[in-house]
Amino acid sequence: MARNWTPGGWRSKPALQMPEYPDQAAVEAVEDKLQSYPPLVFAGEARNLRNRLADVADGKAFLLQGGDCAESFAEFHPDNIRDTFKVLLQMAVVLTYGAACPIVKVGRLAGQFAKPRSAPTEEKDGIELPIYRGDIVNGIEFDEGERAPDPNRMLQAYLQASSTLNLLRAFSQGGYADLHKVHAWNMGFVADSPQGERYAELSNRIHEALAFMEACGMTGAATPEIHTTDFYTSHEALLLGYEQSLTRIDSTSGDWYDTSAHMLWVGDRTRQPDGAHIEFLRGVANPLGLKAGPSMEPDGLIRLIDTLNPENETGRITVIARMGAGKVGDHLPGLIRAVEREGRKVVWSCDPMHGNTIKSSTGYKTRPFDRILDEVRDFFDVHQAEGTYAGGVHFEMTGQDVTECLGGGQAITEAGLGDRYHTHCDPRLNASQSLELAFLIAEMLKKERSDAEARVAQAS
Ligand code: PEP
Ligand code: CO
Repeated sequence: MARNWTPGGWRSKPALQMPEYPDQAAVEAVEDKLQSYPPLVFAGEARNLRNRLADVADGKAFLLQGGDCAESFAEFHPDNIRDTFKVLLQMAVVLTYGAACPIVKVGRLAGQFAKPRSAPTEEKDGIELPIYRGDIVNGIEFDEGERAPDPNRMLQAYLQASSTLNLLRAFSQGGYADLHKVHAWNMGFVADSPQGERYAELSNRIHEALAFMEACGMTGAATPEIHTTDFYTSHEALLLGYEQSLTRIDSTSGDWYDTSAHMLWVGDRTRQPDGAHIEFLRGVANPLGLKAGPSMEPDGLIRLIDTLNPENETGRITVIARMGAGKVGDHLPGLIRAVEREGRKVVWSCDPMHGNTIKSSTGYKTRPFDRILDEVRDFFDVHQAEGTYAGGVHFEMTGQDVTECLGGGQAITEAGLGDRYHTHCDPRLNASQSLELAFLIAEMLKKERSDAEARVAQAS
């Protein structure tokens, strides 16, 4: 357990990116209520995820983390949850099959509501209003009432997270994720595309393999992994009052867990070593993500790792590098070398989204598919050169057929961005772009793993 830590200790530290609520008593009333609500996840599940992430750190598995940039109240619908889940399953199958590697699946789902922003206010036609900070804080419409932070939104976010999680649990355990259903995960609008066809071929091969295994006596009854899957949730631990309200002592271990999700991460803008967010996260035993952009210095990274993981437990920390295409080679090797030199155990993951956001000539915030792919490729190359393991990827994606990121097989153009641009915050990969990326990453992962095997064989 972390030393000198209490769930509310963060309140005496400088906290960036937090809303200024007009009525503090109303905030306290909501937080009291949340404290009496049931936990969303169980500490034992968070420990399982930490063990799975320890496998990733040891090069035995690969982390796939993805979902919305920001979940919204307006888009809360079972079909949206199902479709995002489907695409994550498809991506996982492509990676598992392509690279013969277990995939740890973590959604940016069931709680990803709060957003850090680059400015506290926004001005339109001479009117200045508070910036939109995610549906858990205020409304997206440019309207004074909507933009006022409202603590009751925390209750709605909790309820939405809990029913989203309920559906995800049902899907992952109740038969929807059965490997016999791989064909059915292919979305109608993707099926006719080259990656949809490639996926259908892969599904055929999986069906053949399952039939072969069944003929040998390895049925779903004997191997539950064929029928079910493990699926975990995560979000940015940004709105600390909400997180604190869901932080409970686990009676099994006596440790504190933030039961709002299995995994929490700290964003690139709120990771000040003496700040409130790091103070809060150092005391909860969940596995943690640590975003690292170009401003992260090697010494700073070691200091943060030591604050968050003083016992150097494997699986506790995932460093999520988000440098931007063309910058990975400048910044990542120094971070990797520091971590290796100091003997710290981490999972290295790549977020190729947040360093590659641009404004299109038509005014949309977008991300070019090629730059996303370039960043992932550079990430694998740097790890190959350093002799370390590229252990995961972190995406903003959706199962919907949106037009938010440029390029990909559908060749989405600047003029086409307006067709179906629905995101509440950052541009997401659509179902077809996500699948395309999964095929490309499977090749990189396969090569990484066969190179590692060759090195082991050579050494022995
Ligand atoms: C995010 O993941 O949505 C995010 C804001 O990322 P970062 O902190 O890396 O900018
Ligand atoms: Co984002």
